[in-house]
Amino acid sequence: MQELLTAPLARLEQRDAFLERHLGPNPAEIATMLAALGAPSLDALIDQTVPAAIRLKEPLPLPGPRPEQEALAALRTIAARNVVKKSFIGLGYHGTHTPTVILRNVLENPGWYTAYTPYQAEIAQGRLEALLNFQQMVIDLTGLELANASLLDEATAAAEAMAMARRVSKAKSNAFFVDEGCLPQTLDVLRTRAQYFGFELVLGPAVEAAGHDVFGALLQYPDANGEVRDLSAPLAALKAKGAISAVACDPMALVLLKSPGELGADIALGSTQRFGVPMGFGGPHAAFFATREHYVRAMPGRIIGVSKDRHGKTALRMALQTREQHIRREKANSNICTSQVLLANMAGFYAVYHGPQGLKTIAARIHRLAAILAEGLRRAGVHVRGSRFFDTVVAETGARTAQLLAAAEAAGYNLRQVSNEAVGVALDETATAEDVATLLALFGAGSDVAALDAAVTAAGGALPAELLRHDAILAHPVFNTHHTEHEMLRYLKKLQNRDLALDHSMISLGSCTMKLNATSEMIPITWPEFANLHPFAPRAHVLGYLEMIEGLSDYLKAVTGFDAICMQPNSGAQGEYAGLVAIRRYHASRGEGHRTVCLIPKSAHGTNPASAQMCGLEVVVVDCDDNGNVDLEDLKAKAARHAERLAALMVTYPSTHGVFEENIREICAAVHAHGGQVYMDGANLNAQVGLTSPATIGADVSHMNLHKTFAIPHGGGGPGMGPIGLKAHLAPFMSDHAVAPTGAPDRRNKGQGAVSAAPFGSASILPISWMYIAMMGGEGLKRATEVAILNANYIAAKLGPHYPVLYTGSQGRVAHECILDIRPIKAATGITEVDIAKRLMDYGFHAPTMSFPVPGTIMVEPTESEDPGELDRFIGAMIAIRGEIARIERGELPADDNPLKNAPHTQFEVAASEWKHAYSREEAAYPLPWVAENKFWPGVGRIDDVYGDRNLFCACVPVSAYAD
Ligand SMILES: Cc1ncc(COP(=O)(O)O)c(C=O)c1O
Repeated sequence: MQELLTAPLARLEQRDAFLERHLGPNPAEIATMLAALGAPSLDALIDQTVPAAIRLKEPLPLPGPRPEQEALAALRTIAARNVVKKSFIGLGYHGTHTPTVILRNVLENPGWYTAYTPYQAEIAQGRLEALLNFQQMVIDLTGLELANASLLDEATAAAEAMAMARRVSKAKSNAFFVDEGCLPQTLDVLRTRAQYFGFELVLGPAVEAAGHDVFGALLQYPDANGEVRDLSAPLAALKAKGAISAVACDPMALVLLKSPGELGADIALGSTQRFGVPMGFGGPHAAFFATREHYVRAMPGRIIGVSKDRHGKTALRMALQTREQHIRREKANSNICTSQVLLANMAGFYAVYHGPQGLKTIAARIHRLAAILAEGLRRAGVHVRGSRFFDTVVAETGARTAQLLAAAEAAGYNLRQVSNEAVGVALDETATAEDVATLLALFGAGSDVAALDAAVTAAGGALPAELLRHDAILAHPVFNTHHTEHEMLRYLKKLQNRDLALDHSMISLGSCTMKLNATSEMIPITWPEFANLHPFAPRAHVLGYLEMIEGLSDYLKAVTGFDAICMQPNSGAQGEYAGLVAIRRYHASRGEGHRTVCLIPKSAHGTNPASAQMCGLEVVVVDCDDNGNVDLEDLKAKAARHAERLAALMVTYPSTHGVFEENIREICAAVHAHGGQVYMDGANLNAQVGLTSPATIGADVSHMNLHKTFAIPHGGGGPGMGPIGLKAHLAPFMSDHAVAPTGAPDRRNKGQGAVSAAPFGSASILPISWMYIAMMGGEGLKRATEVAILNANYIAAKLGPHYPVLYTGSQGRVAHECILDIRPIKAATGITEVDIAKRLMDYGFHAPTMSFPVPGTIMVEPTESEDPGELDRFIGAMIAIRGEIARIERGELPADDNPLKNAPHTQFEVAASEWKHAYSREEAAYPLPWVAENKFWPGVGRIDDVYGDRNLFCACVPVSAYAD
């Protein structure tokens, strides 16, 4: 007390208080942990772990830490520079009302946003049900049989459709048709993709699609200018010639309009943003993708499917996993890994809350307001383009265009300048009759909305009668039950209770970095100044965003040592793609476009080869040695063998084996010596921050998973952000954006094709990383890295005697994660890494990463945010499980009836009157005394994946199935 009363003010200010909240162990605990490791100090431990040759000599050039309230206030000041107008720009982004019950209980709720991708399905039944609702909603709206959940954005979904069309079309042509009515950002992304797939893009009017020799086509419904066209004839003509057709569509319009499936499309895709997800200056939002059932194996992205658990109970899980990059690598359908689960959940819940009738009313109201606007304009002599529209009116404004846009802006509206002589107004559910009256007055039209309404109603609106849909949508009970706020609240809570997220216990997923997602980091994302901006809003309205993005870019440059940051890729895998595209453009600029070989170590994440394939690169696999390191001799030999054609090496550092390879510089030099570029997969950047950096080790370009190292939550499987850092020579080759250029007009990458729909990807989650870095400060970030390494070594040391640690560095240390070898246990007892993962659920824990990068192992990454109490509970659980395995080894428990093979145990099973196992109920459910304190009951028993894949069913099940 006395000490505090006499301490200098600077100490009482506690400027680094956030650091103490972010880090698990306090200084005293760090000392105890170091003693347990036999390391004299944290510095000494780091010296034993990170090779001296690559250590940074200077502290990170970043400011000191800012207290939470100060950082929030600073960001508020920046946010205030954004100007929030009503946005009637359209082009795929619309104002929407996030139902507040969803805003607070999903988007702002750590129970939903801190979960991981639902690979451990038994403790993710809530999210999986929400995603199944999303799929059912998409199936109903698109009229196709099968939907995924979900993709990154509409433009990349269109690119996935193009790639899928090539996979399934029998046509010989290498050309893909794009309707000139497509959204401009979609065309931009398609152009980039087509170039590296080697496809030719043919642009033209939708009606001419089948007149070209193409393997597939993309049409837009309604088109970018809002016109609702009957696409059935071009779709039929495409089908007749064996081309695969995709229709990009607006889900709100589909509530009223005939579905693409009914019109004859093979694929339907689009964005569910306007189903309650804020525009957020471009994202994150969930794209949807639906197709016909027989294309299921060619479909990209996650598919949620129905299966059954060990007790025969209906249970959900991700279906057909073997299609994707984890298994199929360069042969995968796509590189999609992290996508947009949280936002897909929100969109699905929007449909659940409003139900079919509510949605029809919302859509009809939007349409009515648009029809009233058009009628008012016409009466005033303004020429309105087209007579068949849903929500968008394009007015020929001639010489008045600039003046009208300015007047609208002054009145609080951003409209779209379609050309120098036309203005577009895309109405949405936030628009009111007053807005329409104001706009009409601006155009010099009469604004008697009631009179116009009567006229429009009498005429029957502007939707073509033959295109109105008559089939039932959203008939499943889930969309017809939860319409009161109480019902909805309880439904959300029921689902949330089935999921294990970071708000319950540690999620030690190696390579995933499930660190704290602090509340102060999350607060700004729902501020209207960040949430309600259109990505194509006038530059003068987004100055706050640009300042925040530039500030974050500067922070990231300081951390990585790179010269430039491209903020466009909206996931790590998209970052890989964007980085490889930059490499290809660089080689081409030097007349070396023939460099198309990409070296990828055997241990790489599946997204690496999948991304390389998307860039038209040929993957050459490099071996790893017995210690899990890249086999330097093999690498050198392959770099030399392919010297003429060597484009790049993709390397993860520290390696996916959780070790800082000593010879990383030599590895990079060998690639450079043969004219190749080094792409560093940044999934493990959290082990480098402040100690070394991608630029220091020799990388030319690297992505940063902001949803790992920089505290963006995983959202139950997304959102994420994967910006790339580039050295100066690659910077001119980063993506730009056709609609909203991302930098100065004189820069070299101007007009260079985009990789994502929005210029700055999922911009509205960037404040999370901004806040994290601002509150941690340079020294704090370094400390976080050190503590992450300490926590991992603590786990390795404590668990090593029970489960062999597969790889360590030269001084016996692991980096920020460690791989535990389960193969000897399997050989001796038949117990697998899956059994251990499921048994951990009974102890209240999510499993570590399974079988990556080495089959038959688990990879544990505790992160810096877990305190010794939680670490010890996890260690205790793992040791207790080892004890259970020992009992099986000794024959005390049968090999086929033991707590591991039967895990996880459900409440239903444990409370049943019958119990026939060789171990007690208590052992099943409360295997250690502290488990009861915080018991988590898995929603279902062990799920039968094979049954689900053999009996594929990917829509909402009848309610009776749950009762069985
Ligand atoms: C090593 C590695 N590379 C790439 C990725 C892909 O990143 P994202 O999921 O953000 O697309 C991951 C994701 O877990 C990863 O662990």
